[in-house]
Amino acid sequence: MSLTAYDFTGRTAFVTGAAGGIGRATAALLAEAGATVHCADRDRQGLQETAALVAEHGGTPHIHALDVTDRAALATAVASVTGPLHVMAAIAGIMHTSTVLETRDEDLDRVLAINFKGVLYACQEAVRSMIASGTRGSIVTMASGAMDSASAGLLCYSVAKAAVVQLTKTLATEVGRHGIRVNAIAPGWIRTAMTDRHEPAAQEQAEAAMVRHSPLARVGEPEDIAHAVLHLASDASSFTTGQILRPNGGVAMPW
Ligand code: NAI
Repeated sequence: MSLTAYDFTGRTAFVTGAAGGIGRATAALLAEAGATVHCADRDRQGLQETAALVAEHGGTPHIHALDVTDRAALATAVASVTGPLHVMAAIAGIMHTSTVLETRDEDLDRVLAINFKGVLYACQEAVRSMIASGTRGSIVTMASGAMDSASAGLLCYSVAKAAVVQLTKTLATEVGRHGIRVNAIAPGWIRTAMTDRHEPAAQEQAEAAMVRHSPLARVGEPEDIAHAVLHLASDASSFTTGQILRPNGGVAMPW
């Protein structure tokens, strides 16, 4: 083993949620590591910005404007990859808050459709492609620290993220014999559009609460998670599957 384990030259990665904070940083880092990067998101403008960043990092971006709840669209996008697919980073997701009593069917359906089924479809298409090409690939899913703790208002989100973890572990047991690895990342509070409170005082208050519980005394940046994805996608983690990596500044179960 050597640092070449982090060299993605000649490899192809597919990133969902690539227009967002964590997905964009991941796409850029994978490009910097030498990968050909396919970026998927429903945000067309954001995808263009990510494509420009990927190019700045030395990559040739491929973009797919799609909704991850559209199984056929995801299948078409993954099938359009030239040559074998080595990495799937299923990052797209949304936040939703409502108390248990206020949760409507449509809230639960929407959050599960995007945060769970969208990941399931990405995993299924990646596995089909990897098995067909005989590629010992790596799939990285995006869970959340929310799956470990109970937070008022986060029922739909945390249920979906717990389901992502179960999907990750189950799939790892099913595809390991093909040499395909499946791992999840459960980030703590990361500064992105998802955690933007749109008002400086509210932002400061929310981040201060996180910082108080963190031994590292800071919140995370998208690059913190991109590096975690890179590690799990790389040969450096070739003996790791069915695991959950928690880049969260040491925050365990704050409440
Ligand atoms: P973000 O809001 O910046 O990015 C999310 C991206 O997903 C956006 O570009 C959005 O357009 C895309 N997306 C949402 N629904 C989609 C759909 N139906 N089809 C296609 N694309 C869709 O948020 P962030 O923070 O980058 O989140 C990325 C992932 O990380 C999410 O799964 C989130 O739940 C997870 N996460 C984020 C944390 C944070 O503190 N920011 C903490 C723990 C997990």
